[in-house]
Parts: sequence; structure tokens; C-alpha cells
Amino acid sequence: MNQIPSPGPYLGTDVVVPEHPGPRPMRGEFLLKEDVVFLNHGSFGACPREVFEIYQAWQRELESEPVGFLGRRYGPLMKQARDDLGRHVGAHGDDLVYYPNATQALNAVIQSLAENLPLTAGDEVLSTSHEYGALDRAWTFVCEPRGVTYNRVPLDPPFTTPSELAERFLSHVGPRTRIVYLSDITSPTAMRLPVAQVVAAARSRGLVTVVDGAHAPGQVDLDLTAIGADFYAGNCHKWLCAPKGSGFLHARREMQGLLRPLVVGHGWRPANPGPSRFIDEHQWRGTHDPAAFLAVPAAIEYQARHDWPTIRARAHEIGAYAVDQLAGLFGVEPLTPPTTDWWVQMVAAPIARSDAHKVGTRLYEEHKIVIPIIDWGGRTFARISVQAYTTKAEVDHLIDALAEIVPTCPHPEG
Ligand SMILES: Cc1ncc(COP(=O)(O)O)c(C=O)c1O
Repeated sequence: MNQIPSPGPYLGTDVVVPEHPGPRPMRGEFLLKEDVVFLNHGSFGACPREVFEIYQAWQRELESEPVGFLGRRYGPLMKQARDDLGRHVGAHGDDLVYYPNATQALNAVIQSLAENLPLTAGDEVLSTSHEYGALDRAWTFVCEPRGVTYNRVPLDPPFTTPSELAERFLSHVGPRTRIVYLSDITSPTAMRLPVAQVVAAARSRGLVTVVDGAHAPGQVDLDLTAIGADFYAGNCHKWLCAPKGSGFLHARREMQGLLRPLVVGHGWRPANPGPSRFIDEHQWRGTHDPAAFLAVPAAIEYQARHDWPTIRARAHEIGAYAVDQLAGLFGVEPLTPPTTDWWVQMVAAPIARSDAHKVGTRLYEEHKIVIPIIDWGGRTFARISVQAYTTKAEVDHLIDALAEIVPTCPHPEG
């Protein structure tokens, strides 16, 4: 993907972003309401009509013969859906298991490692200050009672190169570090972290590596084998635009034995074992509707058919334009250089320090703009998601609304 060249600290106010440099924004292809400016694809994604119909077709098929579907067809259908996803993310389908979301997939890993590695008093899990709150909690939940340190290394700007950031993070590895955990793309700061470099260095020191890839599928071309993380969890319902409830866990084959099932059911000591204990123990977690998983191949195919690399490049240009405009408007520095090795379709654009909750509420109530306003590391960001359906006019609307609202919402600490 092309990187956006920068003439100076910002893109320059004379940058012109054409409204439709690539394919026309595809709002009509999605089920989103017309009267909202939806700039928060990052939280829960949005599913194209076509993919959603395939999802519903699977549900109808299940409902037309539940026993035949869940009793006989489930295994082969899930195998196909795993293989299709595996091809897309550079992994073997039998090293992947679908989970409803990254939170559950990572809980399986976190609880397993605590018990089976095991984590004991004085050990350390090394993490960053950019991690998703629910998973910070999941780590704390297992670390605290064991006297294990969950160390969230503060990684603050300036960010110069991904390599420098990797080195900075790795310099915190200590004698009791057992696990390195980080996001591929972070939640509060929307940054790509140099996971491949960190994983390679950590593994060479004998550490276990766990990656939260909730935002990566669909935003970056994943090659899980090349990244080499011991455990990598992703979501398909965010940037791959699959239906909600479609996440996955990938585990390197050599490490699968460390995992315990999150839910113990028929797959543990199964009556008829399959070829993979990992799949047996993790795939069937009691009666459930697998339609979201089975629709993932349709989402992959949808993006392939709609020239997603061009859509991502156009999204990135619009995002870079927004960051640049807001930096000029509020006199703040962008968090990272405006290149796709730092972010792709989702960017944390700094705005003046302000009351994030009030700004977010007013954007929605007064302008129908849906966007997270985030307080992180003493800064305030508008986390802008640009997707196939986003127009530059919508981003301009956001910029105008922020110009009006932010000065009237001072930060509570002044
Ligand atoms: C970095 C990151 N990890 C994990 C999650 C959790 O995703 P889910 O709620 O689908 O489990 C999110 C959700 O936004 C996230 O941003």
C-alpha cells in the first residue's frame, strides 16, 4: 500500500483530498441508518447488506433442520469456514478456532497460561499502556491473586519509527518476564504496534507471546505465520465487516497443549476424538448459532470483490486529511507520522484537551456524529474510523462540529 508522503510536520493545509479518488463510497451497500454520521466502525464494525443476507440465510437453514445442521453438518461446515479464514490470515485452518469475540478468545489464553505455564509469584506479564481495558482486566484478574506483576509499560510520544518503539518496549523485559502481550492495532490510540519485531525478539528470549489483533483483520493483510505469535486473537466483525460475534483464536501448534478450554463440554475427553485436540476442546462450547462464523468467508470474498486495497488507501487519505486539519485547528501535534505503518483506516486525531465525555455526547446529540472521544495519556483524541461508506464531507462535518464544541467543553482538570 502506498504511504502518504508528508511535506512537513503535518500534511499542509493545502492538501486536497478528492471526494472519490477510488470507488464511490458505498453507503448504500451497508445497513447503516442514513441520518447518522457513522465514524465509529472501530467499536463494533458494520456489515454489508449482502454479507448480512448470507448470515441470515445460514440462520434460516439452521432453523429449518436444527439437528441435521448442528448434529451432522456443523463439523464440516466449520472446517471449511476455518480453512477459508486461515487462507486469508496466513494460517492453517486447524490452528484456528472461531470464538464469538477477541475478549473470549484472549480469556481462554490468559486463564490457560496462568494455570498451565504456570504464572507464579514474582513473575511478570509485560504489556503496554495502549491496551484494551477489558483485557487489562482479564490479565489483572489472573495476576493479582498469584502475586504476578501485570506491567503496562508507558509508551508515550514522540513515535519516530516502529523499530524504535519495539526497542523501547523490549528494553523493559526483565529476568522475571514470562509473557509479552500487546495489540496489533491499539484501541485508545489506534496505532499499529510493531508486533512481528516484538514477537521475534521475545520468542528468541524464550518468552510466551500473546497478541490482541481485534482490529487487524480487514485493515491489514495478515500473515499470522510470519508474525509468529504463540497466541493471536482477532475479530472478523470489525474491519473484515463480518456479522457480529465472529472472532477467532490462532495458536501455534507447538503451544496448543498449554491451552485449557474456557468452557468444558463434550469436546473435552470427547467420545469420538477428531484429529485435533485443540479444535475438539475449543470449537463446540455448547449449543450456539454458528451463522456469524459461517458468513466470514462471504465477508472475505466481499472485500476481495470490492478492491479493498483501494478502499483502504482512500480511507487512509481521508484520515490523514482529518488529522492534519484538526492539528492545524487546535495547534496540536499528530500522534504519529501519517503513514500506513502507523495506522490504516482508524486514527486517533489529537484535539485540544477537553472533556471527552461531553464532547462525544454533544457530537451525537447536536450533530448525529457517532465517534469515540478518548482521554488517554493526558491528551484528548477523536478516534476516527474511515470505512468504504465514509465520505470526506462527513469528516468535514466532524471537523466543523469539533471546532464549535471543543472550546466550550474544557477538561475537568483545567
Ligand atoms: C484492541 C481491542 N481488543 C479487544 C477488543 C474487544 O473486542 P470484542 O468486544 O469483540 O471482544 C477491542 C474492542 O474494541 C479492542 O479495541
